[in-house]
Parts: sequence; C-alpha cells; structure tokens
Amino acid sequence: MKIFVDTADMEEIQEANEMGVLDGVTTNPTHISKQTGSFDDIIKEICEEVSGPVSAEVVATDFEGMMVEARHNASLANNVVVKIPITLDGLKAIKQCSDEGIKTNVTLCFSANQAMLAAKAGATYISPFMGRLDDVGHDGLDLIHQIRQIYDNYAFETEILGASLRSPKHVLDCALAGADVVTLPLDVLTKLLNHPLTDIGLERFLNDWKEWEAKQNGVPA
Ligand code: G3P
Repeated sequence: MKIFVDTADMEEIQEANEMGVLDGVTTNPTHISKQTGSFDDIIKEICEEVSGPVSAEVVATDFEGMMVEARHNASLANNVVVKIPITLDGLKAIKQCSDEGIKTNVTLCFSANQAMLAAKAGATYISPFMGRLDDVGHDGLDLIHQIRQIYDNYAFETEILGASLRSPKHVLDCALAGADVVTLPLDVLTKLLNHPLTDIGLERFLNDWKEWEAKQNGVPA
C-alpha cells in the first residue's frame, strides 16, 4: 500500500519524506489556505521535494473553468495529479483529463456509485473520505469495501486512495480492505510507528546491557 501525506506544509512534507516511506502528497484548498506564497510556487516546491504524485486541486466548479485549471496545474510539474470533485461538471472534466493524459485524483467521494462513475470516466485515483463519513454516523470502511468490490468485479484500474483518515485504526482498516493508497496527516503517519511495548522493551534491553557492561568492567551494580 502506498502512503501519501495530506498537507501543503513543507516542513511536514520534509519530515514525512525523511522517514523514507513516503510515496506522494495530497493537498486541498484548505491546506493551501494555511500557507503563504502563490499556489503555483507551493505546488512546485512540493513537487521538487517529493518525486511521487502530488495532488493539486481545482477550485472552479464549471467544466470549462476546471479544464483551464487542470491543464495549468498539470503544467506545473511532471508529478502533478489534478484533484477534481465528483460533481457533474467534475465528471466531465475527469473524462476530458483522461483523454488528454492528465492524471486525476477524484475528491469528496462519499458513495460507491460516485466511485464507479469516476472509474468509468478514467480517474487515476478515487478518494473516499472515511473520517467525514464516520463523523456523521456512517461507516467509512464500508465504502472502501464496496469500492474495492466494484473495482475488482469490473477490473477498473482506478486506485483507491483512502482519505480523511484520522487514526492508525483507519489506516489498518484501509490496508486490510485492499485500498491502494492512504493519505495521512503527519501525526497519524508518526503514530503508525509508536507502540508503548516497543518503548518499554527497548528501555529494558538498554538497562540490561548497561548492567552487563558494568559487570564486565568490574563495577559493582
Ligand atoms: O484531503 C482530503 C482529506 O484527506 C481531508 O481530510 O480530515 O479534512 O476530513 P479531513
């Protein structure tokens, strides 16, 4: 499973990249709004730091406007993936991008039928929002299972990108359900590594080692 980090903050992206397991980045208008500088410069800087796919979202809501932004965003760097919301105009833009060879990440997906249409239109990635579904009392994991089943039934090549993930449990659920990618805030990525028994075990090993070393040197414990 590929791991993307879900942020436009360069320090967070660099920290995630230094972990050595980062495959890409997803941004959205909310992430961009927290940064300073122009949209183009922010996306270009991220694309220089990370060689994998970097999602850059359109903000136009009409087909023509989406296509102007899609072509522009795709021109910023070779690894840009254009993020497009799953609306009627969005669907048309996904198809047009696919015809033009522009990679897409279809965002704000909350149903399996939306995911099916995105795949038929040639989306590169579909982003089901697990956390936001859980927030309103639905089960985000059900959606991942449904999309996996539909994509496998019909051999759709669109990759399932679990988004809006809030916890290590969400990540585990996505991995077990066969998601192709997860995109995570840096703190969730860091939490994947943590386990209290690892810390306790390491402390015990190091203490035992110190005692043994002291004994070798004839120092009474
Ligand atoms: O980038 C899309 C998605 O990951 C947003 O997550 O936490 O705002 O629901 P969240």
